[in-house]
Amino acid sequence: MKINLIPSIEYIKEEEMEGKNVVVIDVLRATSVITTALFNGATEVITAVEIEEALKYKDESTLLGGERKALKIDGFDLSNSPIEYKREVVLGKRIVLTTTNGTKAINKSMKAQKIFIGCMLNGKAVAKKIIEDNDDAFIVCAGTQGKFSLDDFICAGKIINDIIEEKDMNKDDFATAALLAYKDNMDDIISYVKNAFHYKYLISIGLEEDIKYCFRKDVFNIVPEYRDGSIRV
Ligand code: MLT
Repeated sequence: MKINLIPSIEYIKEEEMEGKNVVVIDVLRATSVITTALFNGATEVITAVEIEEALKYKDESTLLGGERKALKIDGFDLSNSPIEYKREVVLGKRIVLTTTNGTKAINKSMKAQKIFIGCMLNGKAVAKKIIEDNDDAFIVCAGTQGKFSLDDFICAGKIINDIIEEKDMNKDDFATAALLAYKDNMDDIISYVKNAFHYKYLISIGLEEDIKYCFRKDVFNIVPEYRDGSIRV
């Protein structure tokens, strides 16, 4: 069993994923939103690549969420802030989410045998799932606009660390780099991600609380999984 780390959407080779398990990470903020929404009782999350596609799902039991340039989309119910996905808002609702990078990374991983949704909030639970399944795993960092991003990288390092603590296994060099970065910065991850492009952008539009929220570790013991067109627990 081997862990391979993919730096960003641009590096996804869809054929390589066939028959493998994939963990998709977009810690700021799409996979943190999905995990929070499902923990708080949303029935399922559907990912749409385009805004027009998301709008087609609108009905009274569906909330449309997501962002463009990290801001709420006109006519949508929710933005891409995980803090908005409270129990009283999402309980019993279907969420349709469209985001710039995260939902695209999920949609580009469709050839995988299983697609798990990972973030800091559920890192340990995801690691446990990978160990239990005992298959080769690809960890996909969504990245930012196709490029590598430090925030997803350090989150991948945390999940790899959680796996290795339970079971030693082979990994590619990029996975090893993420593990080392996490080990060096695990006590102050915010100082590490301060250098990230997307961190700086979110701060510039006043979303510091979202960042603090997304970097809390192991708050939810659930692993959302994509199956038959939607993501559920
Ligand atoms: C994305 O999918 O690109 C992100 O989640 C962007 C964001 O922070 O809203």
